[in-house]
Amino acid sequence: MTNSTHFGYQTVAEEEKVHKVAEVFHSVAAKYDVMNDFMSAGLHRVWKAFTIAQAGIRPGFKVLDIAGGTGDLAKAFAKQAGPTGEVWLTDINESMLRVGRDRLLNKGLVTPTSLCDAEKLPFPDNYFDRVSVAFGLRNMTHKDVALAEMRRVLKPGGKLLVLEFSKVWEPLKKPYDIYSFSVLPWLGKRVANDADSYRYLAESIRMHPDQETLKAMMQEAGLERVQYFNLTAGVAALHTGIKL
Ligand SMILES: C[S@@+](CC[C@H](N)C(=O)[O-])C[C@H]1O[C@@H](n2cnc3c(N)ncnc32)[C@H](O)[C@@H]1O
Repeated sequence: MTNSTHFGYQTVAEEEKVHKVAEVFHSVAAKYDVMNDFMSAGLHRVWKAFTIAQAGIRPGFKVLDIAGGTGDLAKAFAKQAGPTGEVWLTDINESMLRVGRDRLLNKGLVTPTSLCDAEKLPFPDNYFDRVSVAFGLRNMTHKDVALAEMRRVLKPGGKLLVLEFSKVWEPLKKPYDIYSFSVLPWLGKRVANDADSYRYLAESIRMHPDQETLKAMMQEAGLERVQYFNLTAGVAALHTGIKL
């Protein structure tokens, strides 16, 4: 029997979700960066800067960026880890990974890239000093499996950073809903000629576990000292955890 899951507000078979998520990111890849700036009025840069600061990358670190897409985090990590470091840009989606790889190369950053599923990471146990995933976990079918994989590839003492949309502060919920379900698809249509992908974005954010639930999931996956930081009143949250 096929298991079902969510794709935004729709209930779909698990395999169908994987295809639908792939379609979304093939469709948005070329306009992804410009849309991010439009949609968040540049705020995603602030959230990522906070994540980069919390990562505390040092020269020589081995770092894995999962669902890395167009490479914002990997780019910063590669600069900080320097020539003795090893920073992997990975993603399940070829279109997104291509944009990311080319962007890094254009900046003179030659980093290894891998087309891979976060639920089956092609890396050995206890390998990385840091593992990050920004705005990717929401799209994964088996989040528990992906989190366990992230923990597996971390070295003891290594840190996982999960940046994701989260549950907004209650008084802001109404205006945020109006923005998400009216303005976002309109912007998606105007800028990327793709309203559906941005409707999926709004729905998938609503379906994603809230701050406390994700914290519990990370603890369940075996991470310790799990904590989170609300960003912009909970529009996004950064969760961190350590593998002991
Ligand atoms: C919203 S983008 C985030 C890109 C980048 N991390 C950023 O913050 O700008 C989400 C990414 O997650 C990737 N993704 C979805 N499911 C995945 C999976 N199971 N394994 C790895 N990457 C996945 C998508 O292909 C997409 O590139």
